[in-house]
Amino acid sequence: MEQYIIKGGKRLEGEVVINGAKNAALGIIAAALMTDEQVTIENIPDVLDINVLLDALTEIGAIVERKDRHTVKIVGRIQTTKVDNESMRKMRGSYYLIGALLGKCNNAQVPLPGGCNIGSRPIEQHIKGFKALGADVDISFGMVNASAEKLKGGHIFFDIVSVGATINVMLAAALAEGQTIIENCAKEPHIVDVANFLNSMGANIKGAGTDVIRIKGVQKLHGSTYSIIPDQIEAGTFMLAAAATGGNVTIKNVIPKHLEAITAKLVEIGVEVTEEDDAVRVNAHKRLGNTQIKTLVYPGFPTDMQPQMTTSLATCEGTSIITESIFENRFKYVDELTKMGANIKVEGNTAIINGVEKLTGATVCAPDLRAGAALVIAGMVAEGFTVVEHVEYIERGYESFEKKLQGIGAIIDKFDESDNRGIQKFRLKCG
Ligand code: EPZ
Repeated sequence: MEQYIIKGGKRLEGEVVINGAKNAALGIIAAALMTDEQVTIENIPDVLDINVLLDALTEIGAIVERKDRHTVKIVGRIQTTKVDNESMRKMRGSYYLIGALLGKCNNAQVPLPGGCNIGSRPIEQHIKGFKALGADVDISFGMVNASAEKLKGGHIFFDIVSVGATINVMLAAALAEGQTIIENCAKEPHIVDVANFLNSMGANIKGAGTDVIRIKGVQKLHGSTYSIIPDQIEAGTFMLAAAATGGNVTIKNVIPKHLEAITAKLVEIGVEVTEEDDAVRVNAHKRLGNTQIKTLVYPGFPTDMQPQMTTSLATCEGTSIITESIFENRFKYVDELTKMGANIKVEGNTAIINGVEKLTGATVCAPDLRAGAALVIAGMVAEGFTVVEHVEYIERGYESFEKKLQGIGAIIDKFDESDNRGIQKFRLKCG
């Protein structure tokens, strides 16, 4: 098992470049299967979840060629619609293969998705959407089995706003016969990105980014070359790392509009945020203030930034309150922050954060992807050494996390837990 060791107390300074959006890439890679022609996808992040999905594509017969670290060519001439990859059960994005395969082949057998343990994560809205397109869907032996004689356009009103269900039904409907209308859709930037990609392949999708998406099914999709949007959550994580350490960091290759909810909260607590065309500069030069936040669907404050925000507020002045309204189990990391001296009380889906003067280093365990990143931020703020265990969660969604942080001055490195010599050397070097 690998772990990060961090010596805290260093102000982050400099420039960091953001990679492509993981959650857009998951949908786009699945969509690439929907044509037999070659698709080239640029700005793919080199992270665990993406690589697992690419392996699954290879296993069902697609040709996947990595041109370079961030460019992949896919030819989706698959041999089976049964995805049997064991790793698929551990990730969330696997569910996009249901929509993509059902749309292209009228059949899909895909393991039930796993993903970060941040609360109950049902998929009944996805299933409702597929059924509205005429598919039969059942779940047996841990697999989702979906099939149809022929998919036909339908009218779907989602009961809850779901990113995954919106993308999944959009994928299937792109090749269904006739018109599909999806109402009460999620509006996240990655939904627009997947729709834009499908349109670049010849699909006819309108309204992505609003709460009604209209799709006119086409007979066939064709090859395309497409570049994925920057990852708003990776960008937000670096913004908060800069703010929490009292730093001054320019975060490059971002779309500032996608970061507005985060920017607004940072400005409110006293951080200076400067927007440029494709960059934001975060400068924090005084002790920050408190705030109240409720996580919401886009354009509200993203649940995927909640742990990083809670952590940053742990050392701000006064009492802050964060309400998590999307996932019910997303405060598990708070116990770990408490080990570092934070004063946070969780009541139901609300965290009451009483700002402390300082955090102190400890050995903590990353419970999931974003909480793991949050604990790294805590380690950079804390006095002394912090060990963050279970780096594999963080690597599901952050490319070269420790290297990027080193690039802006953090004292952090990654070690195998058995590498006593390396760990000892690092600790001695940092003093
Ligand atoms: C996506 O998860 C992201 N994952 C998550 O990213 C992100 O936290 C989440 O959207 C919210 O933005 C991927 O894109 C792979 P939802 P998803 O369906 O699609 C409930 C990260 O850290 N719901 O929008 O699973 C659900 O339980 C992560 O990168 C149903 O009840 O999220 C939740 O309460 C983790 N029934 C809410 O809706 C359904 O059929 C929103 O979930 C579907 C969802």
